[in-house]
Amino acid sequence: MINLEQLKKQALSAVKSAKDAKALESLRVRFLGREKGELTKILRSLGTLPLEDKRKLGPQANALRQELETAFNKKLEELKVNSQKSGVGVDITMPGKKVSVGHLHILTQVEKQVRDIFKALNFSVVEGPEVETEYYNFDALNIPKDHPARDMWDTFWILQNRIKNQESRIKNEKMLLRTHTSPVQVRYMENHQPPFQIIVPGRVFRFEATDASHEINFHQVEGLMVGKDVNLANFKFVMREFFRRLFGEDIKLRYRPSYFPFVEPGLEIDIWYERGKLRRPEGSESRPKASGWLEIMGAGMVHPHVFEAARYNPRDLQGFAFGLGLERIAMIKYNIPDIRMFYSGDLRFIKQF
Ligand code: FA5
Repeated sequence: MINLEQLKKQALSAVKSAKDAKALESLRVRFLGREKGELTKILRSLGTLPLEDKRKLGPQANALRQELETAFNKKLEELKVNSQKSGVGVDITMPGKKVSVGHLHILTQVEKQVRDIFKALNFSVVEGPEVETEYYNFDALNIPKDHPARDMWDTFWILQNRIKNQESRIKNEKMLLRTHTSPVQVRYMENHQPPFQIIVPGRVFRFEATDASHEINFHQVEGLMVGKDVNLANFKFVMREFFRRLFGEDIKLRYRPSYFPFVEPGLEIDIWYERGKLRRPEGSESRPKASGWLEIMGAGMVHPHVFEAARYNPRDLQGFAFGLGLERIAMIKYNIPDIRMFYSGDLRFIKQF
């Protein structure tokens, strides 16, 4: 005689009083186990019963199996929730999950250091547009059309019909990605009267081949100080102060005569870097170069034509200007052998700083 009702009562009350997942699992085996489960045995024996009993008991036994399975699953969930609530199953001696906190990119950090030093020397920080007119990037800086010096800056030109720029229509139609931060000199002088001293940090672009010290997209910090009697000695003082504060006393600098159409006289400054000091980040292909001079900035006394472009009288004023490469400064300060690492997106590099 098969008594499904009794089996059901037994099973459900056992499930209800199961204390933990282990006890529940052994009840599952007892009632529903593949080999010897009590209900499984009944289901298996159905084939041997007379047709009429089979028709009656078959659906009942299957329904009971469903019901028990549901009851087991429900109980298991209940036990899990309870154990979480009571803290059972949480190993408080396990190390916590590390929260990874982001930080400023090394270039942003160096830019901030540069800004802070110049601010302490009483310079103001000014910004200008990255998409620039041909007028401000070249003409106003004493580099007229067809001037051979334009070859010093390989330029990304911008397709004209995409740009509707009021300003460019008035002065010079063509637009470009600025090749240096110098155009901001003229923009600033058009709207301000000397004396003043400013720096202009910003992104610049050049259409040129890349290598360990050249990128097509890099950063410069322009400097401009104008007054009645600002001279090269003032420039050298500001530079000495700047480099001393950024690198410490033992930095080795070299001033070289050079040429830029917007200054007269013009010069360049190099910094000495030591072989072996340059690090080689894990996984990097780049080889640290031998020791040598790395050119980090162009500078000079502002050319009278630039003052004229800003509607100043060059006879009343003088000033110095400079443009330094931010990546190059960071490379020397943090021993980074290849400029392309800054933009590699490689976390092994970024996390070192
Ligand atoms: C200029 O861009 C001038 N505007 C600088 C200047 C300003 C001179 C004011 C006089 C007065 P130059 O092309 O040399 O000059 O670039 C200046 C600095 O930018 C370089 O010394 C170098 O440190 C950095 N630089 C130039 N080209 C690259 C490049 N492709 N990748 C990374 N840094 C560069």
